[in-house]
Amino acid sequence: MLAPQGGGPSQDELKRVAAHRAVELVRSGMVLGLGTGSTAVHALDRIGALLRTGHLRDVVGIPTSEWAAASAAAAGIPLTDLNTHPVVDLSIDGADEVDPALNLVKGRGGSLLREKMVEGASRRFVVIVDESKLVPRLGASGLAVPVEVIPFGWSLTLRRLRTLFDGVPGFNIKLRTAATNAKASAFDESESKSEPFVTDNKNYIVDLFFEDGIHGDLNLISDEILRITGVIEHGMFLGLASSVIIARKDGVVVVDK
Ligand code: 5RP
Repeated sequence: MLAPQGGGPSQDELKRVAAHRAVELVRSGMVLGLGTGSTAVHALDRIGALLRTGHLRDVVGIPTSEWAAASAAAAGIPLTDLNTHPVVDLSIDGADEVDPALNLVKGRGGSLLREKMVEGASRRFVVIVDESKLVPRLGASGLAVPVEVIPFGWSLTLRRLRTLFDGVPGFNIKLRTAATNAKASAFDESESKSEPFVTDNKNYIVDLFFEDGIHGDLNLISDEILRITGVIEHGMFLGLASSVIIARKDGVVVVDK
């Protein structure tokens, strides 16, 4: 149980609580998927601390981004990759949105492709969020649903994505730049803020915005997005989460699929 003081725990404290709860699932000898972002970093730090004190041994981690690789190395977690370990025992990562069916939006930090590869290869994928990430339907926060595209002909790909959502009230679409997405900026190494945000895979991100969230069959919409040539992957993680650990001001809730 959290011990609220004054205004209660901060959002960062909630993130840490969720992360530490997830790390209780880590066992010695596991291959771990290492998440990206301000929530996942608490898990990386905790795993590193448990390795240092000998409470965990022989754990190796597959980072979901260059940022996660650097953060995990700083925390002292030995790294490996999906080629060496194609089956991951447990992945722990944050999310931008979680809907009631445990579908997710991820990738506002720009790491959705590697995240989906690592988390999709995991026996168990545990999502760690504070309660601000809960939404009635994906896209309903009004923030971006990211799509990773190849830079070649990106504006044609963007036009095709726009056509797909033609007529959806309040729909908007933008190429992500360091300047247009504050969260992306934290991970962005673009020299100029007005340059396109470049992912770890040297791709661009097109952000989709839905005023009232995404209505309709998410699997169908996913297929239609992925059918556009030039699209690499999108940030809807459908049916991938095994559990979501939600840190709320009044305590932690664990929802299993
Ligand atoms: C990065 C991600 C992150 O997991 C997601 O953006 C959540 O980040 P945070 O914990 O900082 O809110 O998908 O691509």
